[in-house]
Amino acid sequence: MKTYKIAVLGGDGTGPEVTAEAVKVMDAAAAKFKFKVEKTSFDFGGERYKRTGETLPDGAIEEMKKFDAILLGAVGHPDVKPGILEKGILLKMRFALDQYINLRPVRLFPGVECPVKGKGPAEIDYVIVRENTGDAYTGTGGFTMKGTPNEVAVQSAVYSRFQVDRCLKYAFEYAKKNGKKARGKGKENTLALVGKTNVLTYIYDLWERAFHEMGQKYYPDIRRDYYHVDATCMWMIKNPEWFDVLVTGNMFGDIITDLGAITQGGMGIAAGGNINPQGVSMFEPIGGSAPKYTGQGVINPLAAICAMQMMLETLGEDKAAAKVEEAVKFITANKLKSLAAGKMGYSTSQVGDMVAQKVAD
Ligand code: IPM
Ligand code: MN
Repeated sequence: MKTYKIAVLGGDGTGPEVTAEAVKVMDAAAAKFKFKVEKTSFDFGGERYKRTGETLPDGAIEEMKKFDAILLGAVGHPDVKPGILEKGILLKMRFALDQYINLRPVRLFPGVECPVKGKGPAEIDYVIVRENTGDAYTGTGGFTMKGTPNEVAVQSAVYSRFQVDRCLKYAFEYAKKNGKKARGKGKENTLALVGKTNVLTYIYDLWERAFHEMGQKYYPDIRRDYYHVDATCMWMIKNPEWFDVLVTGNMFGDIITDLGAITQGGMGIAAGGNINPQGVSMFEPIGGSAPKYTGQGVINPLAAICAMQMMLETLGEDKAAAKVEEAVKFITANKLKSLAAGKMGYSTSQVGDMVAQKVAD
């Protein structure tokens, strides 16, 4: 029997609650599809930081490399200054484990209320491939004359050809395997680059050249589109059905995936994977730790369950992943009153139970 070693990082706030439900559903999938999961929990997060003064203990990254995948709840603690846990845990893991892809599907599930008038599951069905190691996230920059009236702050957006190429390759391959044609949902597989070639004339010039060179040479059957990021925001509301697979830099990817998340029903459902195709990947709900709901059993665990579903897919457990997706869709279509915290009509663990039950059926 195939065994997967999974590191479980519940994290802060409601993170542990939603992660517990994801683990519950994972166990149900393992039993049903005959694989084993060996889980190890870690207490990285705000409470640990307050106690010990360290974000990640020495050796944590090396430790993580021993696992097949990581399931993360959320980091962010009201008593800890913003930036410390995000940089010291989340971004540290993404960078140190070289999880250079942040894969964020934007899919509206049946029965989920969509804030965009006239759009349903047929229209909101695309994937954003966000580059996850470069851009303004590298921390390149600094201050001069800090604290004086002449202070200058610089934060550089940085991309190497290597980073751009490996991200594009992943995106083209993803479009080939999972684009709308591959899924029987359209006539062609399309990859669209989202950039800002009219202003960021260095960075997105590099992206655009690399995009067309790679596409022309290796993926002539994949249609290539280009959108400026500001226009992308417009089309994500007005014509989301135009999109199939989108690829973009880290910063634009961060911003547009929040917009995408709200069109798919919000943070209760939006999930993502921090992927190192050759290494250890980490899966997480896109929403934060939602501290005000901690311990009340009202938070929606579906985003964490969907993150776990993406993990199963990445591990190659396709049948189990498909079954979990089907189960989540059944629950959104037939059970939940709303995806919002406290308005689901069920508690956090009841939602997990219903999904697990459906997976086991
Ligand atoms: C995300 C988050 C993170 C990011 C923060 C918490 C550092 O917004 O995963 O989208 O900016 O990447
Ligand atoms: Mn974000």
